[in-house]
Amino acid sequence: MKGVILAGGSGTRLKPLTILFNKHLLPVGPFPMIYWSIIKLRDAGISEILIITNKNHLSSFIGLLGMGEELNVNLQYKVQKNEGGGIADALLGAKPFINEEKFIVLLGDNLFEDSLISFVERFQKQEAGARLLLKEVEDPERYGVPCLDVNKNQIKFIVEKPSQPPSAFCVTGIYMYDQQVFEYIDAIHPSDRNELEITDVNNLYIKNDNLQYDILKGWWIDAGTHQSLYRANQMIFEKNKEEPE
Ligand code: G1P
Repeated sequence: MKGVILAGGSGTRLKPLTILFNKHLLPVGPFPMIYWSIIKLRDAGISEILIITNKNHLSSFIGLLGMGEELNVNLQYKVQKNEGGGIADALLGAKPFINEEKFIVLLGDNLFEDSLISFVERFQKQEAGARLLLKEVEDPERYGVPCLDVNKNQIKFIVEKPSQPPSAFCVTGIYMYDQQVFEYIDAIHPSDRNELEITDVNNLYIKNDNLQYDILKGWWIDAGTHQSLYRANQMIFEKNKEEPE
């Protein structure tokens, strides 16, 4: 299986740190943020990785990571054509890299504790469709929120940043897809915030009865704000204190 890391975006909520630097290159513990996504994929046996980022930051990523030699992975790079076009729009750029395989997508600003191994294994056994990872959070209104049918172990629908969240869970930025995802992206339209929303894509999988989910057990943070970036640093340093590497 291959992996895709989305590392574009303008990092608006992290200004002024992101005026010169891409958000995914800011420090989290001893590493630039992007290292953590690469390490999570690598530790789940995924070494063919595509990084999608903005035109302006591409050279910084290449300067930092090269072809992935140091981290023991094979990296490729792609520039997101429509900056600010949304997650689904950025993902379209991965189509030539994927060729017919199932794959996993990580939003590069999602930091988390769980290993991806068991989730990837379950997705590999899944004949087709998509698989999402959810996490219970205190502020679901900041995220994509699933309405769950707990008895059937199914998601009924997902709402993006709802004022009245239908559950206390969020859809994390860890997505597993088959090839169908590219057709679904072609079928959706820009949202009110003028982005192609990954939530709309996931809802198409649900409509076609082809979406499953797991729940993360450990901590999970979307490090897109000053506070959450600080918290991600805290979690990483705490963990390293307990388990020196
Ligand atoms: C995006 C997705 C949202 C998801 C979140 C996870 O939000 O749209 O559904 O819950 O990532 O980090 P955004 O970062 O665009 O606000």
